[in-house]
Amino acid sequence: MDKAYFPLTVATGHSFCNRENIRAQLLSNIGQVQPTLLSAPRRYGKTSLVEQVLQYDIPRSPLKNHFSHSIELLMAHDLESVQHIILSGIGRLAGNILPFHKSAMIKLQGYFSAMRPEYTMDIKGPRVALSPKVSLQSITEGLMRLDQMAQQEGVTVTLAMDEFQQIATIRQHAEIEAAIRAAVQHSTRVSYIFTGSNRHLLDIMFENASRPFFGQCERITLERISEDKYRPFILTAANNRWGKQIDGDTLDRILQLTRCHPYYINALCHRLWRHPEPVLAVDVASEWAYLTHQESDNISSHVGRLAASQRAVIIALAVAPDANLTGKKFLQRARLAASSCAQAAKALKSADIIYQQKDGAWALLDPLMEVVLSDNSTQW
Ligand SMILES: Nc1ncnc2c1ncn2[C@@H]1O[C@H](COP(=O)(O)OP(=O)(O)OP(=O)(O)O)[C@@H](O)[C@H]1O
Ligand SMILES: [Mg+2]
Repeated sequence: MDKAYFPLTVATGHSFCNRENIRAQLLSNIGQVQPTLLSAPRRYGKTSLVEQVLQYDIPRSPLKNHFSHSIELLMAHDLESVQHIILSGIGRLAGNILPFHKSAMIKLQGYFSAMRPEYTMDIKGPRVALSPKVSLQSITEGLMRLDQMAQQEGVTVTLAMDEFQQIATIRQHAEIEAAIRAAVQHSTRVSYIFTGSNRHLLDIMFENASRPFFGQCERITLERISEDKYRPFILTAANNRWGKQIDGDTLDRILQLTRCHPYYINALCHRLWRHPEPVLAVDVASEWAYLTHQESDNISSHVGRLAASQRAVIIALAVAPDANLTGKKFLQRARLAASSCAQAAKALKSADIIYQQKDGAWALLDPLMEVVLSDNSTQW
């Protein structure tokens, strides 16, 4: 059996389920040097998708002499840290494009003359350390030099920037966004993928006409993986684990409890796939109850920090999803006036706490939050 079928961290290779259309779209954008913004709620699979494309799809595609790398901006908190993260990514790519050699060093000094390039090696492999002074100009220049290097070396490059929304929270965000944009818009060989999970911040960064990234990227929004894609995937994983398939009820129960939320499918199946015998619906129920118990304190404290009107909306939605959040029936259930309900719903949508299901009804995005709140609501 392979436990890694349902990892709790990034899924790639045989643990990666579907997303075929978006993978093809990303690959095509990379081929055309079209910058992409990939957005989705937390734990829907953004990082996994990008890694799958970079590690598996690109090497199997007609793209030749292509180099890719992902950087993560989660910890970025000021200009210096953003510069450091971006230049480390550029340095990693430079070290791969031009492996260490005397003549390569001369070339590198030409490309990154003002940045004192030096070859180094770390556990992830070769890297070029770049140490310019801290400035917005260094970010633009580093990215433009990477593009120039790619042109002259006859290669193409993908640079993925994960958790890109963090930049919007930094004091100098407008200037930093402009510095990155300046390189992105002139890029001929470097394709950019920006990913992020805070819809509110991403909308401000990418949909606001006064911001540098307005109109720069093709936006792709990641939805949940559909039931019909998960069914064969889980059945194959069962077959590989136990040499048998699990029965239809058990599979239905997994899909129904997790609502096909990728993280919760993995959290639940990760535990189930440790069972020595093919699991039954009763095992699914008990493992789900375990997860609920584990998460219940976190969920309660998260919900406790929300405004009272937002709590009223999510408690009502945990009991029953509803398509019309300003309709009479829902307002009665939430015990709210139409205006405060509308305001609360807007904040909950933008924080990705509620989402619209395929049938049009609004529901809680986190299936465990739904269980915890609907269980509690029976006590009121
Ligand atoms: N296509 C997929 N197939 C199988 N599992 C997946 C897939 N996408 C994501 N997962 C699983 O879902 C969980 C979340 O994935 P991932 O970390 O890629 O999401 P994310 O959107 O980047 O999350 P975060 O918002 O925390 O950065 C992980 O357990 C991962 O293994
Ligand atoms: Mg991620």
